[in-house]
Amino acid sequence: MQNNYEEQINQIIADLTLEEKANMLHGMGLFTSGDVSEKGIPGLETSDGPMGVRNQFPRDSWFPINLSDDFVSYMPSNSAVSATWNPDCAYAGGKALGEEARGRGKDVILAPGINIKRDPLCGRNFEYMSEDPYLVEELVVPMIKGIQEADVAACVKHYALNNQETNRLWVDTFVDERTLREIYLPGFKAAVQKAGTYSLMNAYNKFEGVHCSANKRLLDSILREEWRYDGTVISDWGSVHTTKETAEASMDLEMSVTTNFDEYFFAKPLVEAVEKGEVKMEDVDAKVRNILRMMYRLKMLGPEAANRNTGSYNTREHQEAVRNTARESMVLLKNEENVLPITKERVTMEPGERAPKKKRIAVIGRNAEHQHAGGGGSAEIKALYEISPIMGLKTYLGGNVDVVYAPGYFIPGKKEDVNAVNWQETSLERQISRRDFMGETEEQQKQREEVMKARKELREEAVALAKSADEVIFVGGLNHDYDVEGWDRDNMKLPYAQDELVEALLEANPNTIVTIVAGSPVEMPWRDKAKAILWCYYAGMETGHAFTEVLFGDVNPSGKLPESFPAEYTDTITYKNGEFGKEDCVTYKEGIFYGYRYYEKEGVSPAFAFGHGLSYTTFGFSDLAVEALPQAGVVNEEADLEKATVKVSVKVTNTGKVAGAEVVQCYVSDTECSVERPVKELKAFGKVFLEPGETKTVELTINNRGLAFYDVESKAFVVEAGEFGIHVGSGSDKIAESAKIFLTK
Ligand code: GLC
Repeated sequence: MQNNYEEQINQIIADLTLEEKANMLHGMGLFTSGDVSEKGIPGLETSDGPMGVRNQFPRDSWFPINLSDDFVSYMPSNSAVSATWNPDCAYAGGKALGEEARGRGKDVILAPGINIKRDPLCGRNFEYMSEDPYLVEELVVPMIKGIQEADVAACVKHYALNNQETNRLWVDTFVDERTLREIYLPGFKAAVQKAGTYSLMNAYNKFEGVHCSANKRLLDSILREEWRYDGTVISDWGSVHTTKETAEASMDLEMSVTTNFDEYFFAKPLVEAVEKGEVKMEDVDAKVRNILRMMYRLKMLGPEAANRNTGSYNTREHQEAVRNTARESMVLLKNEENVLPITKERVTMEPGERAPKKKRIAVIGRNAEHQHAGGGGSAEIKALYEISPIMGLKTYLGGNVDVVYAPGYFIPGKKEDVNAVNWQETSLERQISRRDFMGETEEQQKQREEVMKARKELREEAVALAKSADEVIFVGGLNHDYDVEGWDRDNMKLPYAQDELVEALLEANPNTIVTIVAGSPVEMPWRDKAKAILWCYYAGMETGHAFTEVLFGDVNPSGKLPESFPAEYTDTITYKNGEFGKEDCVTYKEGIFYGYRYYEKEGVSPAFAFGHGLSYTTFGFSDLAVEALPQAGVVNEEADLEKATVKVSVKVTNTGKVAGAEVVQCYVSDTECSVERPVKELKAFGKVFLEPGETKTVELTINNRGLAFYDVESKAFVVEAGEFGIHVGSGSDKIAESAKIFLTK
């Protein structure tokens, strides 16, 4: 940004009164910051969220305006984007989201959420990207760049350690320094230093006893001083709890869920605190400066304002981008005996005596028709449309195939309270975890028995239908009653007795195609019996089309799991340590050993491993070549960490009969090290598209940081001399070729 804005910013500040400055530092609407209109300074229009631009609320009410002008593109969740392992999808998604936000007149989109998926039960996992910090870095950077090309600020969230929803406003988190630096900060650091995010959102929780909104270690020493961040920090809604301490930390804009805007901590109380000499004017000025700097960057102010991107929403281009990402996000977990793809012959009518005989496809499970856009919490979206799986199937197959549906399982209705306000209005009251509701009253027991009866009837109906069909497709999984902000799941099982149903369907037809739509892993006790399993994260408005294109082979699935799927929740280290979902204090005792870093260390086999995903074709790897460059391991200053250090090349051949894409994953193992390191860690990857028989050489580069670990003594990432393993394959559990390099110092 040109420096002269700094001068102009100083001039503006010199002209503002204390009251006017304070006005800019807190919400004057639920999603709008205060303006100083008489001096030409607008308020910031913010909006959720990661899956599209949220519906419009009045300035001071959680009752949506409910006009017909805020239907929007319903984007794939970050989990779906990550499952593509394709930075181009992340960029395209960010670009569309930024344009939609600008089109809706927003200045800040409160996205992307990138908290590490530390435990499968976290309610907001669907909004986040991965368990692996490197995969997060590689996807969050293009996504933010795409957003900000539309002259809209990304607001990367939630900084930091917001890895559970249970009691998220108050839970205190403790993590050792090495784990903080190697796992929980890299995504945010890349967002700041590589993507140039214009804003960042502090998390609700505490870190080392201090709320993230007032945490000087996170906000001042790490974010501002170490990372040189000069953007805006926006509080999570209602995450500010004090005036003085927060003003003295580098949090700039207080937002909340209440409408007493003048009483916000950064409103009148801040003015009074400055007047009493409790808060320094220079701390106030620094916040105003950060906000004004962002306004200039957004072309809200200054000579470039006339050229600000105008944006657009609900365009064909956005819909196509969503469909492409949805296609690449689908993960084929299992496919035996070529159950998939469903070939045209299997659904073609057979000649009959008089009329041809239609083939019948039984589609079983509520997620075949359920629409997910309107749930999840602040990520809720008023989707212009959402193609469900059964809609995708029916529009694809047309009238010459008999597609029949049965819900298969029963979802107890929620008591709709017509007077209920948006859940968020009361979200600041000390949150009660779902567990507190587990006591069963007599009325609940009666309801449970009715549910059990309904489930049995529905299961029998579904099985009968399955027996009558040529193809059976189960579409189950979770929904935003379970993948939801504010709560964590109590267990990793499929709800609504789906497991019994899947078992019964597999009994009725062993070739039942099991598809799961969900935002976080589930236990699949029937996985060895099922021949075909397709996993779909919430993939946005085009899910049903992409889902169908994959099932029928028009699209060859290329998704890879961005997180481990444990066989059972009790296999996770966070469960074993009892350090997830606690109400008051969570200590990350596992350190860096969680997810695949834990399973590989302890020899625990997950149901499906990090990076796993099959294709309708097969790929061969050959000719791995690894070269350590002269600067490998030479780290004299932080910049040296980003220098290319190891060149990896490998040939990939499509050895099958159909075109497809493979994600070449490169893992590094540091076999000689003074500290314990994981068996291996993802440090490079590339997606390659190949025609049948085609071979391409994939070239990847690992930088020094890819070899380094964080040394708490020297407070820096260091590379130790010695042997390193370089492992290349199609999944963390499918290493095709390995090589060694030796670094001498
Ligand atoms: C919510 C969420 C945050 C969201 C904000 C505004 O509580 O934690 O992700 O952007 O408040 O709705």
